[in-house]
Amino acid sequence: MAALQRVKKAVIPAAGLGTRFLPATKAIPKEMLPIVDIPTIQLVIDEAVRAGITDVVIINGRGKHAIEDHFDHAYELERTLRDRGNSELADAMQRVSTMVRLISVRQKAPLGLGHAVLCAREAIGDEPFAVLLGDDLVDNDPDPGIGQLARVHAETGAGAVMIMEVPPGKEHMYGIVAGDLDAATGRMRIRDMVEKPKAGTAPSRWAIVGRYVLPPTIWGHLADTKPGAGGEIQLTDALHQLVGSAAGLYGVVVQGVRHDAGDKLGYLRANLAYALKRPELRAAVLELCRELVAAES
Ligand code: G1P
Repeated sequence: MAALQRVKKAVIPAAGLGTRFLPATKAIPKEMLPIVDIPTIQLVIDEAVRAGITDVVIINGRGKHAIEDHFDHAYELERTLRDRGNSELADAMQRVSTMVRLISVRQKAPLGLGHAVLCAREAIGDEPFAVLLGDDLVDNDPDPGIGQLARVHAETGAGAVMIMEVPPGKEHMYGIVAGDLDAATGRMRIRDMVEKPKAGTAPSRWAIVGRYVLPPTIWGHLADTKPGAGGEIQLTDALHQLVGSAAGLYGVVVQGVRHDAGDKLGYLRANLAYALKRPELRAAVLELCRELVAAES
């Protein structure tokens, strides 16, 4: 087998309307909502960069200019910060604009996650690539989640998706996979999968959560995928085609803390968890939590 290519490119679908966070997302893309003071999409791109990814294709829709602007060079802002003697913050702003090469592609109709990823086909080309969903944050400083999946792909040539066991009754919110989990490696060779199964029909409680490393053979499967759950072209249905192919598909129990920042409570939890990691905020945040709890009791 020819040596497998390293994963250098990633797709981040960001064309959604963000209805769960209205009115905050009426004029601001949900990807720009901050976790403490960093937009969620910057945290996601940071994870990709730490895993060696150099190029990011953002799939966006109308009203998403703020994302491109955020990763652009803000000359006037940096100049003003430097003139005021705040070169540390100016350097930080400059780093944001040089994190990755960013390509922005429009998804012209909301036809589903599979369709959104397919919009990146020309920009990615014939090489393995990562997909990161902005609603899921995977916090693991030394070993970024998407890098853990890239290693599985590099070793096996298979596609790899992050999985976690969800509480009973939550299966209908996810793509659910089935297979035998090897507890020692945290890997599951996937046998079956279904997008958002109806209550009582899920083949397991192992859900796909927001991180994928896919071989380029997925493009053909995506192009052939017909609308599925919710009338949308589903990424899960294209992945199902990989399961039956020679390459195959692994589910990987990724090491790290996952936050569902697409859910109000998950978003608040992520904010608190990331604030607690900041030495300059930690003590004050703990004190604030104690104060709020005491006021309730
Ligand atoms: C998407 C995928 C689903 C996956 C989920 C993970 O669903 O379609 O398979 O389990 O992300 O967060 P969405 O949450 O966009 O409806």
